[in-house]
Amino acid sequence: MKALFLVGGLGTRLRPLTDRMPKPMVPVMGKPLLERNMEALKLHGIREIVLSTCYRPEVIEQYFGNGSDFGLKIRYVCEESPLGTGGAIKNCEQYFDDTFLVFNADILSNINYSEMLRYHKRKKADVTIAVTQVENPSAYGVIEYDEDGYAYLFKEKPAPHEVVSHFINAGVYVFEPSVLWKIASGRPVSVEREVFPKLLEQGRKIAVYKGCNYWLDIGTPEKYIQAHRDGFEGRLHLPEINFHERAVYSASDPHISGTAVLRGPVCLGRNVRIEAGAAVGPNVVIGDNGQIGKKCKVANSILWNNVVLEDGAELSECIVTDGSTVEGASKLKHSIYTPDMIKSAKHLAV
Ligand code: GDD
Ligand code: MG
Repeated sequence: MKALFLVGGLGTRLRPLTDRMPKPMVPVMGKPLLERNMEALKLHGIREIVLSTCYRPEVIEQYFGNGSDFGLKIRYVCEESPLGTGGAIKNCEQYFDDTFLVFNADILSNINYSEMLRYHKRKKADVTIAVTQVENPSAYGVIEYDEDGYAYLFKEKPAPHEVVSHFINAGVYVFEPSVLWKIASGRPVSVEREVFPKLLEQGRKIAVYKGCNYWLDIGTPEKYIQAHRDGFEGRLHLPEINFHERAVYSASDPHISGTAVLRGPVCLGRNVRIEAGAAVGPNVVIGDNGQIGKKCKVANSILWNNVVLEDGAELSECIVTDGSTVEGASKLKHSIYTPDMIKSAKHLAV
């Protein structure tokens, strides 16, 4: 069994977090979202991965390589210009000659993939789409389905008055390879707007799978923060972290001064240094090589890798991206900080 991740989107709505990295590489509780999703697949014995890249492919390739460090076999198919979700799937056709999984790469879910695959076979479907219920379906692809669990209508990003169902496409599909022949090649194609409706017209079976009780599309900064809140509060299952069992997690032995105070839940990357009198937590992630200066205060914040807080800096409800240095005595609240923004003394409220 192989899986295809669509990782080529620009991640526009997640800017400035995606200024330097594609959306699937943003860290969720210290690890790239894509790595978290691949780990979930490994639990179901799926180790062969194809990545359909376009925006900043080098960031992804540098991190994962051929996958061997992660116990995976990873192949890359890069588009010169975006082919859309359907065009991207078609472009990877050469790798799929048996039933396969397809993922939008910006979602977190607790879908049981083995069960979804069994369901797909039982329904004798050409495609099976995981669906989930959301309050505001306008930002997603709405799906209507019959009592036997087969889709009969797709409405992508409906206007509020067009919303007929709160069940939406969760961005996880099982595909039969025969469906690939039906997708046009060499031009942008949307799987949601073009391929799925066309398959229905041709009488193909699209089953919906509802076994998804945690689901989040982390397409915006608000949703990105929500993912962490869910991680700290235990709604998002993280295989190596359980804050009900332990309040502070660390990827390696941190250097913590005796007079610093940590209040969990806190998640520390490798080689973190916390100086005297600092107060860290609750709900804080500090990425690899983080340096928290003397008497700093950090609460409800997500710090990516190589972040330095100079002495006396105070952060609350902030996201600070890779390589930022926050000047001593700064008091930052409700904001996203990137190295460029700090240089230009700009910040963005979240
Ligand atoms: N390779 C490639 N090329 N990948 C792409 C392209 C492309 O041209 N365009 C988008 N992608 C990837 C993105 O990186 C993302 O992982 C996935 O395809 C979906 O794109 P989004 O831009 O995140 O779509 P969306 O969130 O507006 O809507 C989609 O996801 C919703 C669920 O989160 C749709 O599938 C909706 O129907 C669905 O409800
Ligand atoms: Mg999305």
